[in-house]
Amino acid sequence: MVGMLPVLSLRIPYAERFCRMYEENKDFSMVGFYDFLSPALMIIEPGLVKTVLQTNFASFQENHMKVDPKLDPLAVQNPFFLTGEKWMTGRKRLTYAFSSMRLKILLESVKLVCAGFESFLEKKLGKSVKAELELKNLFSKYTAQVVASAGFGVDGLCFEEQESKSSFRNITKDIFKPSTRSSFVVTLMLLCPPLYKIFGMSFIPKHADRFFRELVADLMEKRRTENVTRNDFLQLMVELERVENDKLDIEVLAGHAISFVIDGYETSSSVLSFLGFQLATHSEVQEKLREEIMSVLSRYNEMTYMDQVINESQRITAMQQVMSKVCTTKCELKGSDGLVCSVEPGTLVIIPAQSLHKDPRYWDNPEVFNPERFSADGKQNIERFAYLPFGEWPRICIGMRMALLQIKACLAVLLRKYSLEFSPRTQVPLKMVPVILLPSAKGGVWVFIRPL
Ligand code: HEM
Repeated sequence: MVGMLPVLSLRIPYAERFCRMYEENKDFSMVGFYDFLSPALMIIEPGLVKTVLQTNFASFQENHMKVDPKLDPLAVQNPFFLTGEKWMTGRKRLTYAFSSMRLKILLESVKLVCAGFESFLEKKLGKSVKAELELKNLFSKYTAQVVASAGFGVDGLCFEEQESKSSFRNITKDIFKPSTRSSFVVTLMLLCPPLYKIFGMSFIPKHADRFFRELVADLMEKRRTENVTRNDFLQLMVELERVENDKLDIEVLAGHAISFVIDGYETSSSVLSFLGFQLATHSEVQEKLREEIMSVLSRYNEMTYMDQVINESQRITAMQQVMSKVCTTKCELKGSDGLVCSVEPGTLVIIPAQSLHKDPRYWDNPEVFNPERFSADGKQNIERFAYLPFGEWPRICIGMRMALLQIKACLAVLLRKYSLEFSPRTQVPLKMVPVILLPSAKGGVWVFIRPL
């Protein structure tokens, strides 16, 4: 079994340790291990995943990854880091933010960004026959523009020829940049929360914190007095203030805003880059998807094959490869193999999402990219708790519909006019770099983009 040292020293990715643990113990329903000196548990059978995430949610409602309210006053507003009453309030606000009615409004902003993306691609390709582009870089321009526009009604300046240091993407990128600093902070947050406090390093860099506070304070001041209705997330905050008849604290406002940015930017651009890789290496799937796009145009909810492709790509590369929860009230877990574990409050409980996505007991030829698994017929055979791209109720990803909307809109714009072809500059099989938060391909995902 892999110990903590290679993970702490960033020699192997955090999730890899648990993939190996899963492989070695997959004949059991669960396995105990030591998280430093504390007993911890990995859940292996999907039935128990259901128990932890859903049936006994009351006993496992806390996420293991923590931010310190003093060091990270903005990040701490994200429902992911909250529990109890505060979690419910935060979640309620965001549920409203992504309701069907609000999504329709946000779609208008996404459409504007799509138009900008289209002209960016046209300029980039000019009259050339093809261009070699790195997909994470390309798609993060798109998602940063979406968060700037759908979040704040501003231009993120990411499609400029010479992207400046103060573009939305460059500010946001610093939060996730696989630098020694960010990897170190996240390693501590995830593996050893008390040490993260001792080192006194924040998850959100100071300049990003300042940027969002100032932006939100400035925009809110204007919005409170003007009488124009806008199509963005900030507008929702203005409405909330009216409904609650109280000015929201700048910390809460900037906190919600930065959550919108953090959650919306990195996850969706990473999903898009892995999707792009699958499409570039499976031309028949790309062609079938293009046919669907051409026939339903921008009616995204009719793009059922697109859903299949996105689902399958997320199966192969899950964004949250390992979910880590903490037991909050004592609870007994019983596996179908007769194993029983009495879990004490404070115990770390690992859900190995990526390993479940690749387990041949639930997926035929799991290494093969096959969107048919998610067709209407195929779906009948899916073991529900062995597929967790967005987690599960009640803590399921709250931005799931927003994420899917922006991913679909982006793919539709791209594939309508261009084809994606594999570039040998991409290292295959994809190897993940040992940063912790989200999977990221070593050397990047390079493709040739060719006008049709
Ligand atoms: C494709 C893109 C995305 C993926 C793959 C993704 C994945 C996930 C997953 C797996 C969880 C559950 C975490 C857990 O229980 O441990 C989660 C939670 C969450 N996601 Fe997403 N997410 C995406 C996009 C977004 C977007 C666009 C937003 C909002 C703008 C968002 C906001 C959140 C929030 C607030 C939570 C915490 C919910 C809670 O704890 O109640 N996500 N996401």
